[in-house]
Amino acid sequence: MTMRPQSETSRAARLDGRGRLREATRAAHERLHGQRLLAPLGDGSIGLPAYRALLGRLYGFHAPLEGLVAASPWADRSDAALLAPRAPRLRKDLIELGAEAADLERLPMVAASDLPDLGDYGRFVGCLYVRAGSTLGARLLSKALDPLLGAGNSLGRGFLAGGDGADLQWRACCAAIDGATAAGDWDAMLSGADETFSALEAWLDAA
Ligand code: HEM
Repeated sequence: MTMRPQSETSRAARLDGRGRLREATRAAHERLHGQRLLAPLGDGSIGLPAYRALLGRLYGFHAPLEGLVAASPWADRSDAALLAPRAPRLRKDLIELGAEAADLERLPMVAASDLPDLGDYGRFVGCLYVRAGSTLGARLLSKALDPLLGAGNSLGRGFLAGGDGADLQWRACCAAIDGATAAGDWDAMLSGADETFSALEAWLDAA
């Protein structure tokens, strides 16, 4: 039997469900910081063609994922704020940056088989943790677009900026994590979160 070191065990015991998720997915999250399409966004060096391509690729992931979430049997027991789609905001950003509606219809979409398995409630919440949590870092990424889009110009960065809807979504997400943790669904939540991080990374890497 593999024993975890004492310090790691007691640290995990001190953290709540969300803190444990953050710790357990830290490596997957940090890998995204260095991901080829995302890294130039983080360091403020991204140009307009690359930024538009990134938004299009994110749309090709979020739109099908949100379809899967909405069709899930777990959607009915979830807070509406947790389910609120974010893909329409990506569409709006792309249009604000000059894309035509017809361009959006041609964007590649991730295959259903490459999306996370949402086969139980814990996995469902874990997946939504990754989606809602991404709005936290995205706010900082939005500010890093000032050199490209101009300070004070909000056009083209609504998805990253988030706004009130993102705050509500994050609060609903933390409540869902607490509920799923109390119900003993933490391992399934971690699987859902891990698979969502991996699915996004693979989708961006394949661009
Ligand atoms: C260059 C890319 C990224 C950077 C620099 C970044 C940075 C950050 C930062 C600074 C936070 C903490 C914000 C706070 O506590 O207020 C955060 C949280 C988070 N980010 Fe990212 N992020 C990036 C991309 C992503 C992506 C693409 C996803 C997933 C789709 C993601 C998922 C999360 C999650 C789940 C949290 C919440 C962690 C927690 O439980 O506290 N991040 N990110």
